[in-house]
Amino acid sequence: MLTAQQIEQFHKDGCIVVPGELSPETVSSLLQESHKLLSEFSLEGHPMTKFSTGDSLGEGEAKHVGDAYFLESSDKVRFFFEEGAVKDGKLTVPKEKAVNKIGHALHDLNPEFHKMSVTARNREIAASLGLSDPKILQSMLIFKQPEIGGKVPSHQDGTFLYTKPQSAVGFWYALEDCSTQNGTLAFVPGSHKTHPVAKRFVRDGHGGTTFEDVEGLVSGPEPAEENFKVLDIPAGSLVLIHNSVLHKSEANVSQKSRFAYTFHAIDGTCEYDQRNWLQVPTTGGDNFTRL
Ligand code: FE2
Repeated sequence: MLTAQQIEQFHKDGCIVVPGELSPETVSSLLQESHKLLSEFSLEGHPMTKFSTGDSLGEGEAKHVGDAYFLESSDKVRFFFEEGAVKDGKLTVPKEKAVNKIGHALHDLNPEFHKMSVTARNREIAASLGLSDPKILQSMLIFKQPEIGGKVPSHQDGTFLYTKPQSAVGFWYALEDCSTQNGTLAFVPGSHKTHPVAKRFVRDGHGGTTFEDVEGLVSGPEPAEENFKVLDIPAGSLVLIHNSVLHKSEANVSQKSRFAYTFHAIDGTCEYDQRNWLQVPTTGGDNFTRL
């Protein structure tokens, strides 16, 4: 369970840091597993898909192939590159330094990440935040590589992980220390109450994706920079992120990487429809992993 104070703060701010959630041994074995995934990954047959907040880039056929690689990743372990790491279809840095993220079924397919995701502790945390039938939708390893780790603009996770009513909770684990130096998280306290999720990320029906307005909701104004609270997050911490809280992270221009593992839980009692970009299996469905 979270403490009463942590639960209260989560509801008030929309985001909390729970330090010391992973032991140093667990952190180091997950980091080792992450490096192993990066070094064993083969470029053969890869469409050289870059990642920019859910939108795969490219033109014509390249875009189509990139979209398919992304959309069909919900029940696989796939690798997406930093924008700054691919030029004319070729990597500009070694592959271990080129990957922006791995997704989206590590919690299901990778034994190490499965073991630390599907736990009684996480089930209790989800329950204490109000999820009555918690399920894991998707998971990602996010790398923020030294010097080229891209910024993630301000967004709400409910846009990408849409349920009716909104229910997603982000479980975000720092595998390395995160500070202003290497592109840590920042969020707007209380924005989950003032900024309804007015857009959702859906399949466009033509093999790609698009943003769609949510009926009856209007986005709040984009907050000023000074409204973002920048988080100092020691390795091993768990950051819990409300589906509607505005958050972002800056580019990592330092020499130090910023590895994190994240998964999202939703409430299985909420509606999850076929418009969502993420379907498990990819042909359509909501066969999510029970937490
Ligand atoms: Fe996010």
